[in-house]
Formats: sequence, C-alpha cells, structure tokens
Amino acid sequence: MCGIVGYVGKRQAAKILLDGLRKLEYRGYDSAGIAVRNGAENAQVVKTSGRLKALIEKTENGKNIRGTCGIGHTRWATHGVPSVANAHPHVSGNCAGTGNGPVESSVVGVHNGIIENYAELKAKLMSKGYSFYSETDTEVLVKLVDYYYNKYRIGPIDAINRTMVRARGSYALALMFTDYPNQIYAARKDSPLIIGKGEEESFLASDVPAILNHTRNVYYIQNHQSARIEEDRITFFDLNGDEVFLPETVIEWDAKAAEKDGFAHYMLKEIHEQSTAVRNTFNSLVRESAIHLEDFGLDQSILNGISHIDIVACGSAWHVGVTSQYVIESLTDIPVRVELASEFRYRNMPITSGTLVIVISQSGETADTLAALRKAKQAGIPVLAVVNVVGSSIAREADYVLYTLAGPEISVATTKAYSAQLIAMDLFAIQLSYSKGFITREKYSYYIEEASSLPEKIERILLDKERLQWFSSRISGQANMFFIGRGLDYSVCLEGSLKMKEISYIHSEAYAAGELKHGTISLIEDGTVVVGIMTESSVMDKTFSNMIECKARGAYLISLTSADHPVPDEGEIDFQITVPATDELFLPSLAVIPLQLLSYYTSVNRGLDVDKPRNLAKSVTVE
Ligand code: F6R
Repeated sequence: MCGIVGYVGKRQAAKILLDGLRKLEYRGYDSAGIAVRNGAENAQVVKTSGRLKALIEKTENGKNIRGTCGIGHTRWATHGVPSVANAHPHVSGNCAGTGNGPVESSVVGVHNGIIENYAELKAKLMSKGYSFYSETDTEVLVKLVDYYYNKYRIGPIDAINRTMVRARGSYALALMFTDYPNQIYAARKDSPLIIGKGEEESFLASDVPAILNHTRNVYYIQNHQSARIEEDRITFFDLNGDEVFLPETVIEWDAKAAEKDGFAHYMLKEIHEQSTAVRNTFNSLVRESAIHLEDFGLDQSILNGISHIDIVACGSAWHVGVTSQYVIESLTDIPVRVELASEFRYRNMPITSGTLVIVISQSGETADTLAALRKAKQAGIPVLAVVNVVGSSIAREADYVLYTLAGPEISVATTKAYSAQLIAMDLFAIQLSYSKGFITREKYSYYIEEASSLPEKIERILLDKERLQWFSSRISGQANMFFIGRGLDYSVCLEGSLKMKEISYIHSEAYAAGELKHGTISLIEDGTVVVGIMTESSVMDKTFSNMIECKARGAYLISLTSADHPVPDEGEIDFQITVPATDELFLPSLAVIPLQLLSYYTSVNRGLDVDKPRNLAKSVTVE
C-alpha cells in the first residue's frame, strides 16, 4: 500500500514528483503530499486529503514550489484515518506542514509499509520529549531516525541503520536531512523500492511506471539496505554501514504501456491488452512446438520429483490457483492443494517432501504471499513463483520464476495479469503431464496448439463488447448478484464475482452450483441476477438445473457457454453470452473476458471510479 517517489537533479522536483505519484495512485489514493527543498533551505511540505488531484490543484501542478530535490507520497491509510495530519511526508518537528511555508525539522520522510512495534517506539520517544501531531506509524519512524541522528551525532546512514535495528515490520522509506541538501536517503525491508539513475539526476519509487518516462536503469535495493541518492551518484550500504555494490537492471517495459493510450480507463485498456499478454507469455515458454520450463530451472528431473503441489496466492491470483488445480489434476495424478496465502502462512499443516509450492502474484510484493513463500522455503520445500513484476521480492526469493509477460498493470482490478497467469499455469500443467508420461506426444501437441489459439479467440470476444455494454445497463441497478458453476466454471465464477463486486460495489457471490441449495438459495428473489457459467459439458445439465431452481424463485438468468455446447433450453435464459470453442481445460481463459467487460461497464454506468475502487490498493504489502 502507498506509493513513494523521490527526485534529485537539476530540474524542478515538484512536477516530477506529482507525475510519478499519478502513476502510483493505484497503490493508494486517500491523501497525498510532497516535500521539496530548494538548495539548503528547509523543506516545503504540502499535503492534502483525498485524491492526488487536490494536491495538484493546491500546488498549481508543482509550479508554486521551488526546489530540485524532493520526496512524495500517495497514501492508503493503515494507521490513522485519511486526513491532512496523517498524510505524508512526516517531519521530526512538531508541525506536519500544510503548505503554508517551509517546515523546520531535521528529518522529513515518506514511508510505505507498517511498523508493528510503533506503539512501543512512540512511548519511548515521548519519554525523550517528542510529541506527535498524527496517528501514524510513519511519524514515529521519522522521529526515531531524528532521535538517533541527534543523540549520537551520527550521519544519516548510521541513524537509519539504528532505526532499522529497532523497527519491526515492513518499510520502504525515503528521507531528507536538513543538514544534507540535494541528497535523499532510502531504506527498505519487505516493501518495494527501486532507485533509478538518469543523466545528472536520480529517482526513487515504489514501482517502475513512476520513473519510466525518465530512466530505465534501476537498482533493486535489498532488505535491510540503505542508500544515499545524489544527482550524480547512488551509494548503497548494508546494516553495518559498509558500502555495498548492487547490479544495475535495465527495465524493458515500454513507457507507453503505462499510459491510458486513448482508453477511458486503464482497466478497459488492460482488458484489450489480454491477447498480447497471453501471446507474449505463451511465446516466452513455447518454441518449436514444445514447452521449455527447463529455461527457468524446471528440468525433467525436477518435474519428475514432484508428487504434491500446493498453490498459494491471494485474490484473483488465488482464483488462478483454483483453476490450475482442476487443470493439473485433470492432466496428472498429482494431488493439488490451493491455499489462501493469509491462511497458509499461519496454519499448521503437513507439507510432505516431494511437494512443490507454487506462489502466484502479479506484483510480486503481496505481503501474505511473500510470507507463505518464506514459510515454504524454511521448511525446505522448493518454491516456483509465477510473477509479473521483474525483480520483485517474490521473484527474488523464489527458487524458480516463471514471468508472466503482461507488462505494467495499473488498474487496481486485475485483468491482463490474471489472464497471463492462467496461460503460464496451463503450460506448466501440460509440460508436467507430458514429462511424467500422463499424455502422449500427440495429446501434448494438441494442447499446445489449443493454448496457442487463445489470443485470437480473446480478440474475437472483445469484438462483441458493445452488446455487453448495452446489456450492462440492465444489471447496473442490481443490489445482489450470484455466479454459479461447477468445476472449472466455478473457478471462473470466483473471478467474475470478485470483478463485479470490487469495481461496481454490487454485492455478489460465487457459488459452486450444487451448493446453492444448502442455504444461499434463500437469498434469491424476484429479479435477482444469477449468472450460470456452463462451459464444462459434463456438468452443464447439472448447473442448468440449478439455474432453473433459481428461476422458479424469480431469478433473472444469464448464461455463459462455449459455441459448441449451447444451453439445453435457450427459452429459459434471459441473456446469453457465448465464447468461442476450445479445449474445455482452457475455456476459463475465454469465459472470464465477457465477465470482466460486464463488470467494467456496470461500474461505468454506476458512475464509479473504475481504476481506483474505494478502500482498495493494487499492491497489498501489508497483512
Ligand atoms: C483483484 C485483484 C486482487 C489481487 C490480489 C493479489 O482484481 O487484483 O485480488 O489479485 O491482491 O495481488 P498480487 O497478484 O499482486 O499478489
């Protein structure tokens, strides 16, 4: 949660910080602030509550703040309500600053993460004479740095290192010290932070899109490391204060990929980018009609040693896990368990040797998924990560990494990363099955061929989007919706329902179709929308019967089927959605597309902020 940026160079910092924050707004958007220094002058701190727009207006898009060194923050509240006082930057003095002039403080900082022992640290600092103007853990962190800095008369890096030793939790931290003009100091533990180097200017940010317009050369600062960032030099330090050298990485993402490019919302753009995301991911794993997992370290002997699989993830990535469970268990005799990372990390359960843990994550920074990965590794279990963000914590810590090539995903509700995860997991399943001798060479080639046809079929579904746009007005006034299906279709229900509720705020539930009658059917009343997903021919009749049971209680029925298996009785259905035919194992990749579109248009009809739904953030780096 929260996005941080920093700039030091020759240009005016405020505008660059605001542009960077705009790209990070998906990480949090309940308040924002910047602190900018003009040479040796004190920092000028400007903060507003609400969307970044308010800060842009207040600063006249940065024009009324002078200075070439600064830090900025967009917040997703954890400690303390969204308010100007709680907004970052925070200062070591007694005034948060509201934009009415420079702030006198030896330390000014922004932070992404959570300090778990902040209450204890706050009490200690109060006993030393500090007072607090906000409810945030960040103010405590900044004042702790200030305390060590002044008490021991040590430099910024030593003060930060002492703070890192005392603070428990997660942080990406950017600080400016009054005594050190034109320098930004940074530190990190378990929250994302990259540092970028341009020509006579340097940057820091929580995520790549924030700096992609300025530089592609970045450093991934590691846990418990700190950095001194100057316009012509970046120096990294370990916890002892010794200098360390980090490799530079060149980001290959296209800067245009992080722009809206004429679409009304990022979500709509990203829905349209799905065929490319799936094609690119497919092409990265398949060549000469074979899947090459050995390129990622998963050679034949590793695959042969797998006797159990635990898939661990959160949210939509977990839904990919549910789909993959069905696919892997259909293609092999390997038992697959799918766990929510937030449960897995605290549960006592046997993990037998021969298990492969697969973590799935777009951001590669989700706190629960990262903790689950560490738990598996501690138990000596190998971990495969399916990740979108290159160099993210999960990618760095996993034993094997399959990158999804979805490019930057900005909209909070995932679409293209989800689709890229599905194809990556499908290809993994096919290769696992073939390597272990469960399918013949002919069947192997057939599956690869079918998977290769998905991008074109996704494009075909998108051609029909006006029909869904028109229909969405029919459901925009709904209070409740249900998505029902069996098997693979149930996994699609989970995703379709989450998409609908998270961006349209219509209460929606996903149910295994056969389970509805065990209680939930009591919620069906006149006009309740029930979406029946029926792409699996073997269970279609069963789900159809469950839909008819709902209709008998007044439900309005939407069906989703594939072209080669239409609904048994079209007359019973109020609105039909059909996707192109493919092997049933891959139909989730197609069935999800109309559901994404339906959610998108419903959210637009309801006048909501599609890309930034309330209370959510893109990257959940806190528990
Ligand atoms: C929903 C959504 C979330 C994420 C979840 C995991 O549209 O985007 O449910 O799927 O927060 O995030 P990652 O994949 O970054 O670990």
